[in-house]
Amino acid sequence: MDKKVAFFILGGTGDLARRKLYPGIERLAKKGRLGKLVGVYALGRERGKIEAFEERFRREVSVPLRFIEFDVMDRESYRKIAQEIENLPGVELIFYLALPPDLFETAVTHLGATLRSFTNPRKIVVEKPFGFDLESAKRLNFQLKRYFTEREIYRIDHFLGKLQVQNILSVRFSNYIFEGIWNKNFIDNIQISALETVGLEGRVSYYDRVGALRDMVQNHLLQILSFLAMEPPAVMSAEKIRDEKVKVLESIRRIKTSEVRKFAVRGQYRGYREELGRESNTETFVALKLYIQNFRWEDVPFYLRTGKRLKEKRTQAVVVFKEVPGNFGKLLGCMPEQNKLAFEIAPRNKLIFRFQVMPPSGLLACTVESSMETDIAQSIEEPPEAYETLLEDIVNGDQTLFIREDESELAWEIVQPIIESWEKGEELYLYEPGSWGPKEAEEFIKRDGRSWILV
Ligand code: BG6
Repeated sequence: MDKKVAFFILGGTGDLARRKLYPGIERLAKKGRLGKLVGVYALGRERGKIEAFEERFRREVSVPLRFIEFDVMDRESYRKIAQEIENLPGVELIFYLALPPDLFETAVTHLGATLRSFTNPRKIVVEKPFGFDLESAKRLNFQLKRYFTEREIYRIDHFLGKLQVQNILSVRFSNYIFEGIWNKNFIDNIQISALETVGLEGRVSYYDRVGALRDMVQNHLLQILSFLAMEPPAVMSAEKIRDEKVKVLESIRRIKTSEVRKFAVRGQYRGYREELGRESNTETFVALKLYIQNFRWEDVPFYLRTGKRLKEKRTQAVVVFKEVPGNFGKLLGCMPEQNKLAFEIAPRNKLIFRFQVMPPSGLLACTVESSMETDIAQSIEEPPEAYETLLEDIVNGDQTLFIREDESELAWEIVQPIIESWEKGEELYLYEPGSWGPKEAEEFIKRDGRSWILV
């Protein structure tokens, strides 16, 4: 018989739980994918916020959702967890920390102590950001490892639950046509953009402490970069795939604090400080250039950018190929576009290839750009939401799409000099809401003779 599992969601009446976790569990349960789940415990303070879910779960889902009044900082609260566990002999316990990052360490310590008296199998899920910087990430990992083994720790990055992000690996490692050209000889640069129209959306205090570099770059964008740049794993296993990602992160050239200005630009949208009600130098926009020092990628720039209150919601990874030597179009005096392969993660779910073809007017006219597209989710009526995929993986014990300890620390190591330099007061450029970000980010890439590309 399948083992039984129960979710304990700390921060169970918070925003993440309500927006992503309960809907994810509900959808999975309806699809019959959580046969083993015996209960979901919402540990939080404000029951009113989840009454609707309690009702929905009662009506439509065979798994009960139960509210438990809980204060993360209060030791006594953890007794309530212990009482519940006593009624769950042999059940695997999944603790989901849907909490602000500054509460992680306390929660882990109290939970760890509580669990000492139980033999139930267990897992702990930690939301990003894992710490605020390299040092706190190490501290958090140390703390986690005091009570849990790496096999029991699920550091979640919801971008890895997105179909088009996973598709990067399928496209790269299941086709002969790409591998031969997936390197410095054929690729001019790679751009990863995660552009958003939304602003702070009520997350003012979280966001102002964190900023775009920690919120998006340290995790989501570096994860996409790792998928684009890694070598194929020799064996299809969570460990081997993560080993390859680790090698990429290890090979990223470290930026020195003194040269941050050359490699990174930060911006803030106009009106941010008014929204916040005080002065702040927190960045709501980042543009960054990284190099990977290995045989495959030497000298190929990886441009990353992300921002809030921009013109459009677009999340794309674009591989830009080199200009064709002896370019046919150029011989005719034209300026053909470079080939591009784009993984569009949002708003559409598409793989797009852009290339040159002959125009109807004939061979001796300038070539034109043509496009081939495929929507991998087309045949699915309701594509799974990122959290849904990851919640199912947690229940099934598959860690492929979760961040390992060494990955999380390496990713901090890469952004750490930028954090330090910005803390000392590097330039912060203002931009208009509804624009593409500060003009300095355009100039930043123009200096390399390139421009930002969205396909
Ligand atoms: C989250 C960030 O991890 O990702 C948010 O904390 C951001 O600031 C969000 O808005 C973007 O995710 P998605 O799935 O909406 O593109």
